[in-house]
Amino acid sequence: MSKKVLLSGIQPSGKAHIGNYFGAMKQFVDLQDQYDDYVFIADLHALTTTKDKDRLKENTVNVLLDYMTVGLDPKQTVLYKQSDVPQVAELAWIFNCLTTVPYLERAHAYKDAITNGKETSVGLFDYPLLMAADILIQDADLVPTGLDQKQHIEITRDTAEKFNHIFGEAFKLPEPYIPENVAVVPGTDGRKMSKSYGNTIPLFATDEEIEKAVMSIVTDSSSDVPQNVYNIHSLLRNKNDLEVIYAENKGQYKKLKEFLIEDLKVFIKPLREKRQALEEDRSAVLEVLKAGGKKANERAEKKMEKVRELVGLKLY
Ligand code: ADP
Ligand code: TRP
Repeated sequence: MSKKVLLSGIQPSGKAHIGNYFGAMKQFVDLQDQYDDYVFIADLHALTTTKDKDRLKENTVNVLLDYMTVGLDPKQTVLYKQSDVPQVAELAWIFNCLTTVPYLERAHAYKDAITNGKETSVGLFDYPLLMAADILIQDADLVPTGLDQKQHIEITRDTAEKFNHIFGEAFKLPEPYIPENVAVVPGTDGRKMSKSYGNTIPLFATDEEIEKAVMSIVTDSSSDVPQNVYNIHSLLRNKNDLEVIYAENKGQYKKLKEFLIEDLKVFIKPLREKRQALEEDRSAVLEVLKAGGKKANERAEKKMEKVRELVGLKLY
């Protein structure tokens, strides 16, 4: 029997942080034995924010290097860039024609952009339907992401149901996979760790960057346990270990931060070194992307043939 399909993607929009790793990438890696893994770089999505061609290219290769560094193995996981499967844009158009404007207006990411007074492009508004196309075109069963993407997966399921109802059975309903303990990895200020909040610990941080980030963690002097430090620490050590450390150093915030710094250094150093080694052979890394793009494209094309037939676009 063939394996179930896991699919997820990350936008090439900046440096990876430990929230991306624990909240998403680690699940892609941990499940790659059990699932047929499809993991991509959402470069079409990134066009909603990036208008700099060289930067986009650079960030795309960077996400690929991140994926390979954390352990995604091209023999087990199809690694590709979204734009190598242009059929997703075609499918998103079909979804556009099924979806109402008020329905998409309820999407959190869009509402936040409006609240923050950002200029919103049609692409940003339509973002969830391109994401639905990414997922549905590959018949994904499981979509691991952080909690911020949950609504997008719900929109994906609604869209699949709507299509199936109107045109006939074409799409599976995917399940989100959002492990509770890492659904929202906190940043140095206690809010969700995010590139856009400047509260991150980069996944490949230098020792100095680790020190600086941890020392900047906001602490609340009213309690014995600095919660923001503890929460980040709990990603790296089990509860029993932490209880001992935090009991022995009760109220000593600086010391506890130093413990966290050491643990982060131990965790990050081998990753940083592996990434540097991979960077040396860029052409081999790009070959991985090319081969993955071909596979993902072929699979998507099969699904699109069926979709075109169902909607009446196929005449010969
Ligand atoms: P950012 O918010 O830093 O721009 P992205 O939107 O690029 O991060 O997220 C890429 C993936 O990492 C998504 O699956 C997202 O849900 C997950 N992710 C990002 N930040 C966190 C976090 N703080 N906790 C858990 N998951 C996260
Ligand atoms: N929206 C996701 C993010 O910002 C990226 C993404 C695009 C994605 N298409 C996807 C994630 C399909 C999972 C499945 O992180």
